Amino acid sequence: MSAEGTGTGRLGVWLVGARGSVATTTILGALAVRAGLSGRTGLVAELPEVAAARLPALDDLVFGGHDIGCDPLVKRAERLVAGGVVPADLLPAVREELEAVEARLRPGYDTSAVRTGSGETQAEAVERLAADLTAFRIEHRLDRVVVVDVASTEAPVELGDSGALVDPVALDAALAAGEAPLPPSSAYVLAAYRAGCPVVSFTPSPGPRLPVLSAIAAGHGLPWAGSDGKTGETLLKSVLAPMFATRGLRVNAWSSFNILGGGDGATLADPDRAASKLDSKGTGLEAILGHPVQGPMHIDFVPDQGEQKTAIDHVSFEGFLGARMSLQFTWTGYDSALAAPLVLDLARLTLRAHELGESGPLPFGFFFKDPAGPAGTTPEHRLAAQWDALVAWCADGGAR
Ligand SMILES: NC(=O)c1ccc[n+]([C@@H]2O[C@H](COP(=O)([O-])OP(=O)(O)OC[C@H]3O[C@@H](n4cnc5c(N)ncnc54)[C@H](O)[C@@H]3O)[C@@H](O)[C@H]2O)c1
Repeated sequence: MSAEGTGTGRLGVWLVGARGSVATTTILGALAVRAGLSGRTGLVAELPEVAAARLPALDDLVFGGHDIGCDPLVKRAERLVAGGVVPADLLPAVREELEAVEARLRPGYDTSAVRTGSGETQAEAVERLAADLTAFRIEHRLDRVVVVDVASTEAPVELGDSGALVDPVALDAALAAGEAPLPPSSAYVLAAYRAGCPVVSFTPSPGPRLPVLSAIAAGHGLPWAGSDGKTGETLLKSVLAPMFATRGLRVNAWSSFNILGGGDGATLADPDRAASKLDSKGTGLEAILGHPVQGPMHIDFVPDQGEQKTAIDHVSFEGFLGARMSLQFTWTGYDSALAAPLVLDLARLTLRAHELGESGPLPFGFFFKDPAGPAGTTPEHRLAAQWDALVAWCADGGAR
């Protein structure tokens, strides 16, 4: 039995937000690794415990995607080189293949008429996006295609009285009436499900998390994974918080300050969109510690940071006899270099889950800040426990 590749031929990875930093690093990285120009550091799927699931090989992946921006991928890649994320000598070596991916990118969808300039209804947009996915699958003779959302973060949505966000019949009725009930990230998910594609939500946008989309995924028997890639500060929290908890130390306050540049930083300068990220970053800590924790959480846009993100955390905790102590850490990383291998891991794992006939939210919380699970279950946030769940899934997948 081979440790890599399931023998099912070519597979598609369709990136929503395909011209962004994370998507460009993902595509360029996959091309560089499979050409033997770069190593596999950072790819969780290459670890033996995960490769045990018999994941598709990087060589089998064909990339395409949607974006609302027009900057060519090669230009985005040049900016990543200038920002220090991508070594300068890689780009010339993969430029031709990057241009081939560029030719597969299609115009995206945004509810803002100012951006699209079109009179397209949401129903028409969903149909167009689904048709793009089907055409991609047919043209490249792909056995299956996973849709991965790496587009700009959207503001959260309130379910309120909108039946269309909960009930598939009400959603169909609203779409037929020419309404646009879904945020764009969820419209892409609906299109993916209609085209028979599983979904990964790497952002904190509503995407597949709306109840109506959970119901539609279940109805189509499709798997999905989310939400919001865990790449930096939250990754550290999911390791350090269990340490305090299992040593019986009481964390009284955990203050978090994030500064970042790049497109993501510019997007998160909008307080409505930042609310999604702050919600997603905030879900784990109190769940792990089991009690409320004081402390502000800030995200600030500092253009000078370029492609780097810095998190500065101050944790104040109490020990035996009430002794007051503290921990401070600073984490600086190239966000896209941390995120891109996880996007490849999740694409390969979700394609394998689809091949195995799995349906509903996948147990891939290891990769996410706000892990989705079956309705009524409490999400696990502790990294070690998430790793055990992932390894168990991979062992089971490999045996099937
Ligand atoms: N880098 C990380 O470590 C990390 C971790 C977790 C989550 N994320 C999330 O990944 C996403 C991408 O981050 P990035 O740094 O690549 O951002 P970016 O700003 O560089 O790229 C976002 C891309 O999405 C496109 N876009 C915006 N709205 C769209 C729409 N409606 N349809 C299609 N495309 C659309 C933009 O044109 C742009 O090309 C963000 O939501 C970010 O929060 C990143």
